[in-house]
Amino acid sequence: MLVIHNKKELQKVLQSKVNKNCTIGFVPTMGALHTGHLSLIKRAFSQNEVTVVSIFINPTQFDNKEDLEKYPTDLRNDIDLLQTVSDAIIIFAPSALEIYNGDIASKKFNFNGLEKVMEGEFRTGHFNGVATIVELLLLAVNPTHAYFGEKDFQQLQIIKKLVELKKFPFKIIGCPIERETNGLARSSRNERLSKSTREEAGFIFKTLNSAKSKFGIENAKSITDWVASEFAKSKLFELEYFQIADASTLTPILKKQKNIKYRAFIAVYAEGIRLIDNIAL
Ligand code: PAJ
Repeated sequence: MLVIHNKKELQKVLQSKVNKNCTIGFVPTMGALHTGHLSLIKRAFSQNEVTVVSIFINPTQFDNKEDLEKYPTDLRNDIDLLQTVSDAIIIFAPSALEIYNGDIASKKFNFNGLEKVMEGEFRTGHFNGVATIVELLLLAVNPTHAYFGEKDFQQLQIIKKLVELKKFPFKIIGCPIERETNGLARSSRNERLSKSTREEAGFIFKTLNSAKSKFGIENAKSITDWVASEFAKSKLFELEYFQIADASTLTPILKKQKNIKYRAFIAVYAEGIRLIDNIAL
């Protein structure tokens, strides 16, 4: 399995594939890989002649120092997991200085308000950091297709907007959310939950599903109040936000309209760990 740390070397390896007109599928990750990541990687692998997975914990997208410091890393285990998909996957694991060309800082972006709500509101500077690194990674890999999970639905919409604004030729593909058996969306952060809280955390998806059932009958305000009251009863989970929004513009719903796709978004704290999820309504 090829593990490359340097952009020039990566480009040398990929140039020979581009010369043969190969499609290149790219999956950016921060490592600590789990089956959620693997679903994207398997899809990229099945749809392209070459698959590149980047593993890089991007410091500029963390608004919380402790979250960055505690972010799990295990490159050896990540390599072993990727090997279960294929030995032919190329891993790109650059250092921060390498990928940032020596200047580890976020650029400022304007995504027509997509970056201002929900995660953008509660995690200052987060999407500037995400967009900065994703742009650098896309330019380093130059893929034909890049894969992102709906687990981070707002991130996916922002990357689509980034590619549109920059007129990049990369096709951005959204992939469905992988869940644990109790419904908890898979996340590297789940590893930090105690066993019992991780089991109980099925409550988040259960609540999202109930909100979905109510969506046909009740208005958004009453559903939002109901979700808040469910969380108020819980000793384990603290609700940061629950929001029903237009799935493409991410603007909060005011009055339900026909022909608009809505989605419910949630952020919750459990044992000091922040968990996010969302569901199509
Ligand atoms: P990370 O959290 O490692 O996630 C990498 C990709 O895997 C993202 O596109 C994310 O949405 C997807 N993913 C994670 N859990 C998933 C799940 N349960 N089901 C489906 N897809 C899932 O997202 C990032 O890294 C970073 O912000 C990154 C884009 C790499 C930029 O640093």
